[in-house]
Amino acid sequence: MIIREEKNQDINAIETLTLLAFTDHPHYKPGEAPVEHLIVNRLRDARAMTLSLVAEDDSGIIGHLAYSPISIDGRATHWHALAPVSVSPSRQRQGIGSRLIRKSIAMLAGRNIDGLVVLGDAEYYLRFGFHHHHHLKVEGVPANYFMAQVLTEGAALPEGVVTFHPAFG
Ligand SMILES: CC(C)(COP(=O)(O)OP(=O)(O)OC[C@H]1O[C@@H](n2cnc3c(N)ncnc32)[C@H](O)[C@@H]1OP(=O)(O)O)[C@@H](O)C(=O)NCCC(=O)NCCS
Repeated sequence: MIIREEKNQDINAIETLTLLAFTDHPHYKPGEAPVEHLIVNRLRDARAMTLSLVAEDDSGIIGHLAYSPISIDGRATHWHALAPVSVSPSRQRQGIGSRLIRKSIAMLAGRNIDGLVVLGDAEYYLRFGFHHHHHLKVEGVPANYFMAQVLTEGAALPEGVVTFHPAFG
């Protein structure tokens, strides 16, 4: 398996994978249609993806993640959100998501980025260096579902209300 940045020819495979990964996801009510694949497309169309990585093997694209900039208290920042992360349902729990996330963090550490945030299960994301930070919030999201990590040594952890890119709706 290799992990690399997305190319134009991956776009359809990323859309299909993301839709599949979030179909019947527990954060949706029964019958609700997932939107994560649309978010990825909108981020790309807006040229707002800080990083878009795929995991690929002989069977094709089996994993994907994206990052995009966030604002805090309405101001642009050097902070970015990891979302969404998708692994092909038949390939989950084989370490693919972990490898994608670890590689992405290593790649972003070399850029002009102060830190990263993520919404999701703490049980999963705490292992990648994310922590709960109670002075940084997303409206309507329980604090234990939101995490951040400083990426650049010495960068201050901001306080305030986080807003994701408009592509998240
Ligand atoms: C969440 C997801 C990206 C993880 O990728 P993965 O390749 O399956 O995960 P990995 O194999 O790297 O990691 C497996 C570990 O994570 C744990 N894990 C996986 N998904 C988890 C979740 N939602 N909550 C808590 N733990 C989770 C497993 O229990 C396992 O733990 P262990 O190593 O202690 O046994 C993948 O399952 C997925 O695409 N899920 C559907 C979409 C989704 O929920 N995306 C994340 C929200 S943006």
